[in-house]
Amino acid sequence: MAVQIRPATEGDVSQITDIFNQSIPVGDAEWTERLHTHADRLAWLHDRTAADRPVLVAEHNGHVVGVASYGDFRDSGVREGFRFVCEHSVYVDNTARGIGAADALMDELESIARENGLRQMIATIDASNGRSVAFHARRGFIEVGRMPDIGFTFDTWRTMVLMQLDLR
Ligand SMILES: CC(C)(COP(=O)(O)OP(=O)(O)OC[C@H]1O[C@@H](n2cnc3c(N)ncnc32)[C@H](O)[C@@H]1OP(=O)(O)O)[C@@H](O)C(=O)NCCC(=O)NCCS
Repeated sequence: MAVQIRPATEGDVSQITDIFNQSIPVGDAEWTERLHTHADRLAWLHDRTAADRPVLVAEHNGHVVGVASYGDFRDSGVREGFRFVCEHSVYVDNTARGIGAADALMDELESIARENGLRQMIATIDASNGRSVAFHARRGFIEVGRMPDIGFTFDTWRTMVLMQLDLR
């Protein structure tokens, strides 16, 4: 059955929390050693929704298998010059990678960003996350910067790759 994309609801928060948490011990996605809680992902969903930012989930065979969202790249409430750029995140359950869920999520997320008048979309990716770099490059994101050794988790120095998609 095809992957279906829809806005996230409070009922999805347990699965969203689990999907984010799978990546934390791997170390190459979010630079934290602390697992998310249901409460913090619920607060995140509420904050994004209140700010009119999309939070999307991918469903496959009746299960939530992915989540994607975007927010500010820099704080555009304080520095409004950044209001046409967003930074996104996309996560797929490790049992459902390679089935097109990430592409389906990004197709919809990019379309919403365009409808909202955004011009640039930014991915900040751990340089060791070859799968995410390859995925974003295939979708047209271009590497625009590399910041060596700016993160440190799990006894490892981490380099950030900045990739940018022109939404026009
Ligand atoms: C990044 C992510 C969303 C991509 O979703 P996915 O379903 O795995 O993506 P796809 O399989 O469609 O695409 C991945 C591509 O990388 C390739 N790939 C896989 N492992 C790779 C590696 N180690 N190095 C380079 N390329 C790799 C795949 O072959 C595929 O390329 P193709 O489409 O040309 O065949 C998913 O892997 C994920 O959730 N990862 C963990 C969380 C994460 O890192 N999120 C991004 C944070 S920036």
